Amino acid sequence: MARDLNFGVVGLGMGVHHCKAIVNAKGAALAAVCDIDEERLKSTVEKFGCKGYHRYSDLLKDKEIDCVAVVVESGRHADFGIAAAKAGKHLIMEKPVDITPARIKKLQGVVKKSGIKAGCIFQYRMDPCNILLKKAITQKKIGRLIGLHAALPWFRADSYYAGEHGTWRGTWKLDGGGSLMNQGIHTVDLMQWLGGPVRSVCGFFGVFNHKIQAEDQTVAILKFENGALGTLMTTTCCIPGKDQRVYAYGTKGSFSRYGGELESYEAGSEDERKKMLGWFGARKTGEQTSSDPMAVAADGHQLIIEDLVKAVRGNREPVIPIESAKHAVEIACAIFKSGRMGREVKVREMRA
Ligand SMILES: NC(=O)c1ccc[n+]([C@@H]2O[C@H](COP(=O)([O-])OP(=O)(O)OC[C@H]3O[C@@H](n4cnc5c(N)ncnc54)[C@H](O)[C@@H]3O)[C@@H](O)[C@H]2O)c1
Repeated sequence: MARDLNFGVVGLGMGVHHCKAIVNAKGAALAAVCDIDEERLKSTVEKFGCKGYHRYSDLLKDKEIDCVAVVVESGRHADFGIAAAKAGKHLIMEKPVDITPARIKKLQGVVKKSGIKAGCIFQYRMDPCNILLKKAITQKKIGRLIGLHAALPWFRADSYYAGEHGTWRGTWKLDGGGSLMNQGIHTVDLMQWLGGPVRSVCGFFGVFNHKIQAEDQTVAILKFENGALGTLMTTTCCIPGKDQRVYAYGTKGSFSRYGGELESYEAGSEDERKKMLGWFGARKTGEQTSSDPMAVAADGHQLIIEDLVKAVRGNREPVIPIESAKHAVEIACAIFKSGRMGREVKVREMRA
């Protein structure tokens, strides 16, 4: 039997969730962690009984490590990923892969050249209900898609944007935005994964109730390549935070989801409708990320890590390769460009 792949995790905020997911993942082992914050490093090393590195370059020199999970500030992801790929380490890239298509393209080039595997985190894609909702669209169970809409009325307190590990958030340079590029990027990705690529957007954004640089509210209209229309709102200003809502309708049916609950499913046979509502209809979510950023469940991460192990073993692409995680960032950047220019922006204008 093949030995477990050894992981190193860099960035020990959300990175601690990666540690838990790696420990639970089949075929993976946590070998080392890295952070420049001594307290975070010490407490994580104690918790998981692994090696600890203060300097990232030392983690990359560790020959025992096969894969690196990059969980530092978003605008540094590509740089950290490039360094790891050059050192021959496989990659798990936290969302967003990075904050501009140009930076992501640079990472892609190095990943390709080095021949390593790179899997990206968009854990909503691993959710069993979302997988079946995607089928309802792609197998035309709701007919031809006409509308796909999503809202993310979340709340983040001022303290989230303050302190040693808060001031990068809501900045253009390191967060690439605010409620859209950080929290909402999951929703953007879910929309494009369910509904297909987005052709153009009209967007508005601003800072409404936090002392941050970029934005704490965005609204956008999306035109999908397949002709459907969509709307998206993201905010960190809604008190108290409410769950994400997604609803879709086509020429033959519709569905809507609120947080972990499938509110309605009008697609396929009566038997299928009953089954879907039986499985996902009751309120089953354990996550409270609408108000608490650390309440993310670790199982989606675990599945993506297990998939990376299989991708390395089987020499195949991971379930969410960089190419597939990039479109969400192109869409978010197009929404910001549209807001700045006051016009509809074609997403292809953002391509690097
Ligand atoms: N998938 C999800 O649901 C989810 C949830 C939260 C955050 N995230 C993502 O995780 C990333 C990190 O977010 P966070 O909230 O944990 O941020 P954070 O600021 O709490 O953590 C980042 C860590 O990186 C460390 N770091 C920075 N530079 C370093 C260096 N040179 N060497 C070693 N360590 C370094 C910092 O000291 C810090 O501890 C972001 O990209 C964010 O978008 C994803």
